[in-house]
Amino acid sequence: MTPPNNSSQVQPEVRKKTPSDFIFGKVIGEGSFSTVYLAKDVQTGKEVAIKVLEKAHIIKEKKTEYVMREKESLRILGSSCPYIVHLYSTFQDSQRLYFVLTYASNGELLKHIKLHKQFNFDCVRYYTAELILALEYLHLKSIVHRDLKPENILFDHNFHVVITDFGSAKILRKDQQGEPNGDSDVNMQKGRQRRRNSFVGTAQFVSPEMLQEYKSSHASDLWALGCIVYQMACGNMLFVAGSDYLIFQKILKLDYSFPDSFDERVKDFVEKLVVIEPNRRLGASDAVPYSSHREHEMFEGINWNDLGPPPQLS
Ligand code: ADE
Repeated sequence: MTPPNNSSQVQPEVRKKTPSDFIFGKVIGEGSFSTVYLAKDVQTGKEVAIKVLEKAHIIKEKKTEYVMREKESLRILGSSCPYIVHLYSTFQDSQRLYFVLTYASNGELLKHIKLHKQFNFDCVRYYTAELILALEYLHLKSIVHRDLKPENILFDHNFHVVITDFGSAKILRKDQQGEPNGDSDVNMQKGRQRRRNSFVGTAQFVSPEMLQEYKSSHASDLWALGCIVYQMACGNMLFVAGSDYLIFQKILKLDYSFPDSFDERVKDFVEKLVVIEPNRRLGASDAVPYSSHREHEMFEGINWNDLGPPPQLS
């Protein structure tokens, strides 16, 4: 018998995309486990970024869990926050996985910091405000990015930030949510809890707790924010040394300094984020999430409900 055609229950059938639905263009990003292409949706003409992952390589390098985590994080994040990359669709063929993403046509924040040597105060303030709104959304959705850095922050066609690369992201379980530092990065393997034996992320931006205890929380992203704000304001990385090991030593000793010309308001903001104890970082323990960021003197005059258009980069 044919079921009654109750139109309110009938879902439009969305056909899975295939590679032939897109015209693939130039490579716009490369990682250890993926290549990102600029592509055009044949049907709509819309430009997208397609992240392509080789299945055999992922399996060989035991990165399946990370790929699944990236997809799940992006699914949870959806399209509500303009400052976070949007996953439009995923598909696969026999050899590859494909993630269809927002195309951020103005490239990496890192490129623009290098181009301008450093950003002026208005730009630092504006882009820090956009990043705070993005982190607030990640927090709301219980996701820690864990690899925030100027290479993973892109600019869209209007020069708004787009945070990308959720390959290291962590989805906090219900019982871990709201704890400033309450979770350890454990893998569940064959019913046993196993601690990761190396940190995730990038040496220069990794937080002390991720280094020492393989622990992370939203506060780990706040540490990285402090490092990024410093870099936008003076052009240099906060922790630099000849090897990852030496960078880690500097991180654990808070061995960094500010150039003389560094803006005092930005300096205070960075100092309040780059704090060893995760719970003590600015915003980490706010009853009203991120209220202490919004109230910081650096943001005096900012309308948090409407940041307006970005200032000219300089
Ligand atoms: N490079 C890596 N991912 C990208 C994206 N989504 N847009 C533009 N460039 C990128």
